[in-house]
Amino acid sequence: MSVATHPELDSFARNNALDGLTEASLRAIADGREGYSIETGRRFLAFQTRIDAELLRHPIITNNTYTAWFEHGHKSHEQIMNFIVQFSVFSNQFLVAQLQKTLNADTLEGMRASKEILANEIGVVFNSAANNSAPIDDPETERHGDAELVSTEGTVDGGVFRFRAAHFEWLLRIAEKLGLAFEDMGRRVHGTESTLFFCDELIRLYGSEDYMTAQAASYAVENWAAAGFWDELVTGFVAYNEGVESPLPLAFFTWHARIEGQHAQHTQEELEELYFHREVDHDAFIETGKEILDGVAAFWSGLDEQRRRIAAI
Ligand SMILES: [Fe+2]
Repeated sequence: MSVATHPELDSFARNNALDGLTEASLRAIADGREGYSIETGRRFLAFQTRIDAELLRHPIITNNTYTAWFEHGHKSHEQIMNFIVQFSVFSNQFLVAQLQKTLNADTLEGMRASKEILANEIGVVFNSAANNSAPIDDPETERHGDAELVSTEGTVDGGVFRFRAAHFEWLLRIAEKLGLAFEDMGRRVHGTESTLFFCDELIRLYGSEDYMTAQAASYAVENWAAAGFWDELVTGFVAYNEGVESPLPLAFFTWHARIEGQHAQHTQEELEELYFHREVDHDAFIETGKEILDGVAAFWSGLDEQRRRIAAI
């Protein structure tokens, strides 16, 4: 969580027992902006203490057995294949959840925020200086949209759509190297029971018609995503690549690790903004968060069981 970097906000926070709020919230309270009060700020901090203790200590955030193994353990070709297939099913079903979230948004701003993620996921490259530096019709390369070439910053507004920039296609490029074909990937028929359970929980909760349910699920999912599992996967893949003749293209994973690093702060600001503008039921928020994290945990423990089964053969 960020702390205020301005001395006057620091002392404002100290004097009003508001230490721990983000700078944006402190400033809004100090300016007397609508919805922002010292009392609500203190109530939020008490809520945050509960979130930290009851939600963010979920075992899938603090202790993911599968990614801990993946980071340092020996991984066979078959175990990697298995992982990529399950991940591709999740990656596709996530689009359904994200579309539901977009359609169920109750403000235009919320709808656009969801659409950013959805459009980027299917192949709209962020419109940023870095992404625009290469000429669009450059005949030199057919690799526009490849994960290692696109930035993690900017907006899809005015961004260019490229088939090759779909995150699913980034996964396909890894799959090809592993000897998997398109038809082996992505569809529900390839998902295990635990992968599909997770996907359906995402659609049910993250894509919920109820705004607060969707927000609670989103907060929990984003905290899971920011907890470091992408980095563990990257480390594991780098080690795997050292031992094989034809290394896997890792940009799908390095790109997501980069973008998640930027998200953590944003997630906290969003939660505070939500809190100052809506009535938040503390118990329901934490319950929903735990439910979706149980879904996340099912996905990873399914993978863990599979990798053990493969190792035992
Ligand atoms: Fe993605």
